[in-house]
Amino acid sequence: MTQARPLIALYPGSFDPVTLGHEDIARRTLRVVDQLVVGIAETSSQAKTPAFSVEERLELLREVFRDEPRIECEAFSGLLVDYARQKGAGLVVRGLRAVSDFEYEFQMAQMNRELSPGLEFVFLTPDAHLSFLSASIVKEVARLGGDVSSFVSAPVLRRLKERFR
Ligand code: PNS
Repeated sequence: MTQARPLIALYPGSFDPVTLGHEDIARRTLRVVDQLVVGIAETSSQAKTPAFSVEERLELLREVFRDEPRIECEAFSGLLVDYARQKGAGLVVRGLRAVSDFEYEFQMAQMNRELSPGLEFVFLTPDAHLSFLSASIVKEVARLGGDVSSFVSAPVLRRLKERFR
């Protein structure tokens, strides 16, 4: 009898920092795949000045998903399609919050398909109460002293408070 290969997905992003929206997407993905690689891209298509270094973001991701042995968190440089191949991931997962996300996601998915025709892109929607959430908005509110405790988990909240004290 042949053993089925585990289905591995890659969830790439900037995760600056990881929010409850990201966590929701990652945990939902585990309902349909065997293993998930959460990959911090050292090069993001959106030029941004990150609040946290790649190392800090990675540390937070690992802390947040400490309870989940099926999730591996790493940073990667270079093209997403090359990293997916390296990790043996057959699909890439992205969160789709609203119609406004669609154009950017569609462009990236189409380009990535040109680069790697065998790779599939899957979009998951977060829980409704997280559908407006973005790491940029969380950072801005935290920077201005607002309460973001409903939008990030405890280790991230602690780190945001330290950063924007
Ligand atoms: O969380 P973000 O910033 O929206 O994620 C964007 C990300 C990291 C998925 C994208 O910038 C990316 O794939 N970067 C890796 C480099 C790459 O392959 N770029 C070409 C994308 S078509």
